[in-house]
Amino acid sequence: MLYTNLSVNEKGHLTVGGVDTVALAKEYGTPLYVMDKDRVRANCRSYLGAMRKYFGEDCLPYYASKALCFADMCRLVAQEGMGLDVVSAGELYTAQKAGFPMEKVGFHGNNKTDEEIAMGISLGVGHFVADAAEEIEAIEREAARAGVTQKVLLRVTPGIDPHTHAKIATGMVDSKFGAAIETGSAMELTKKLLSCPHIAFEGFHCHVGSQIFEASPFLSAVDIMLDFIAQVMAETGYIARVLNLGGGFGVRYTEEDPKLNLEKFIHMVADHLDTKRREYGLPRLTVYMEPGRSIVADAGLTLYTVGTVKKIPGYKNYVSVDGGMADNPRYALYEAKYTVLNAERAAEKADLVCTVAGRCCESGDLIGENMMLAEPKRGEILAVLTTGAYNFSMASGYNRLARPALVWVENKESRVAVRRESLADLLEKDL
Ligand code: LLP
Repeated sequence: MLYTNLSVNEKGHLTVGGVDTVALAKEYGTPLYVMDKDRVRANCRSYLGAMRKYFGEDCLPYYASKALCFADMCRLVAQEGMGLDVVSAGELYTAQKAGFPMEKVGFHGNNKTDEEIAMGISLGVGHFVADAAEEIEAIEREAARAGVTQKVLLRVTPGIDPHTHAKIATGMVDSKFGAAIETGSAMELTKKLLSCPHIAFEGFHCHVGSQIFEASPFLSAVDIMLDFIAQVMAETGYIARVLNLGGGFGVRYTEEDPKLNLEKFIHMVADHLDTKRREYGLPRLTVYMEPGRSIVADAGLTLYTVGTVKKIPGYKNYVSVDGGMADNPRYALYEAKYTVLNAERAAEKADLVCTVAGRCCESGDLIGENMMLAEPKRGEILAVLTTGAYNFSMASGYNRLARPALVWVENKESRVAVRRESLADLLEKDL
């Protein structure tokens, strides 16, 4: 099995966290998102533990809630003592209603609206990660109006190619995110931030990309950021206190993906950072990170019911399920690879080569191609593994499909964390 929390029981059914997935599908219906809460907790603890050990007690991982955001997830992150990265009024509102401590929220995004900035300041978010000149002006204006001093980091594009899918690489010079060092924009915005009386400028942020398995892009980011921090110190006298290295650690979607040793990885980055900052004569920095995918992806799976099995001799075998791109658009967007199992016969030999297709009116609506499955029949349950990140959060209502429910599995029991959208819900907002 891809992960240790997955197993096969005496009925031959796939289990997650000790709970029978076929029974879950029967109890809650499909499509169904299932999240193993203990696994999410374990992932949070690995981050917090490794970061505290190697970066020091003042460091903080901010969970990137874009990966998976709902009220109880925010509560869990709060219980685990992590910070929360939000990018919209919606994520911020969810966090606030869940009782998340606002001083541990970082407000991100490349185009925050004036209303969102005002909302963030009035709720007392810990810091904003500013992305552009207009935003800095809006934060200054709003902080002045509220009579507060707002903490801000500046997002800088270090200009690194992280060797990941082009659509999820974000740290390059021509990226829509942040201010490039190379063009002089980062220095210009730094000076602007330093001149704002209602802004407490805390330091810098960078994020090179997502689903990264190599340490080298992170080590290069450290080099470039420290070089820039030293340059800023020489030119303005300002010494950054915080360095946020973003998120991006890869997870295993299939057996071909490497296993990443988080602790070793963080150790390497921390050692490198310490060596470099000494070389530049800089004081110790408080390090933040923003893991999203690596906190939730491997804790999740999606259950579907098989509908038609269409064999086109000499061409393809289609296994259609009762969900697809509306609940998981990642194949359609990135040709993302997944591991799929027949949850009812999880230990049987997978000998049917097939394309697992969704039910939307789009030929691109696939979960994956060339997948090996123990031949499924109509009514059987399929499990798509590693769907905890960027599935629920990227779901749409295409074809007027109601959004699936999400259940937590914990201590061998299950409970609904987000209820299934009903047909009536679909009309709720129609006037
Ligand atoms: N911080 C910033 C500023 C980000 O832009 C992101 C992700 C993260 C942290 C979290 O990165 P992670 O640890 O999850 O790799 N929808 C795509 C992923 C987009 C990631 C966008 N930014 C996917 O499904 O693969």
